[in-house]
Amino acid sequence: MIRLALKTSTWNPTETEWLRAANTISEAERDRISQFMYKRDAKQSMAGRLLMRNCFSQLSGAFPESFVLSRDTSGKPYLVNPPATLTALSFNVSHAGDYATFAGSNSAKVGVDVMKVELRRNTTVEQFFGHMKRQFTDFEWQRIRSPGSDRGKLFNFYRYWCLKESYVKAIGTGLKFGLLKIEFDIGRMEDDICRTTTVAIDGVIDSDWRFEEVYLDNHFITIAVQGEDSTREHVEDNVKVVKFDDLIVSKDMLDDEKYFFSFNEKKECP
Ligand SMILES: CC(C)(COP(=O)(O)OP(=O)(O)OC[C@H]1O[C@@H](n2cnc3c(N)ncnc32)[C@H](O)[C@@H]1OP(=O)(O)O)[C@@H](O)C(=O)NCCC(=O)NCCS
Repeated sequence: MIRLALKTSTWNPTETEWLRAANTISEAERDRISQFMYKRDAKQSMAGRLLMRNCFSQLSGAFPESFVLSRDTSGKPYLVNPPATLTALSFNVSHAGDYATFAGSNSAKVGVDVMKVELRRNTTVEQFFGHMKRQFTDFEWQRIRSPGSDRGKLFNFYRYWCLKESYVKAIGTGLKFGLLKIEFDIGRMEDDICRTTTVAIDGVIDSDWRFEEVYLDNHFITIAVQGEDSTREHVEDNVKVVKFDDLIVSKDMLDDEKYFFSFNEKKECP
């Protein structure tokens, strides 16, 4: 399995770095990124694309910029005409809070989700939960609310959120699947890792799925995995935190600037 995380909040690209990154992705990807108003969103989307393309490159030996990506009707990215080494690859990205994350497997089906454990200003935990009432079953709410402290409740809430999202992202449906059909029984976290959470679909435990949950730097990163993973790369059983400098990006800067934008033109988040 390849499990990567890039801390986008501390990635402050120079204009040269940004244009080299832009040269590594496709015109359609650049168009999309150019539409974000804030630096944070542009960086997260760019980081997701670079993580995907770096994984393809690592597994196939081809340049990151050589791949053609499209999206299915639910918005899930897929590789158009993948080389033989990538035909069985399942991959997914997620970006939220301070991180962009990636999971990829050559044999198992994967979905990833990342969330920062935080509460909006001027909101109580119970007010926040009130808006999310219909996303979890009664059993799940009982588990979410079981800790005595608000912090513990919020922690469990984001665990559950990531589990749900990682599953619907692995199957590719997004929210259409109906979140109440999926019920998780969370396992014990030890050293900020848990591998024992189980899922039931329509009340029946589905042991074909396993969940890799990691708590890292106040974020949950969860990878839903269906089937056996036989990918040789990055065999450690944990997320590898990479920096922009670790990624392979084009040596050249994007030369036709009319297709892109200056990073410094984007706004800081309020
Ligand atoms: C895409 C979706 C599945 C997840 O979105 P999200 O959590 O807002 O965003 P994430 O950062 O985790 O993931 C976004 C990435 O997932 C990928 N993606 C898009 N649609 C996808 C789909 N149907 N299945 C899997 N992956 C998808 C894309 O790569 C996208 O990034 P990109 O557009 O920059 O390439 C969204 O459609 C959705 O259903 N969101 C659920 C929101 C919600 O209220 N969840 C409640 C959970 S309790």
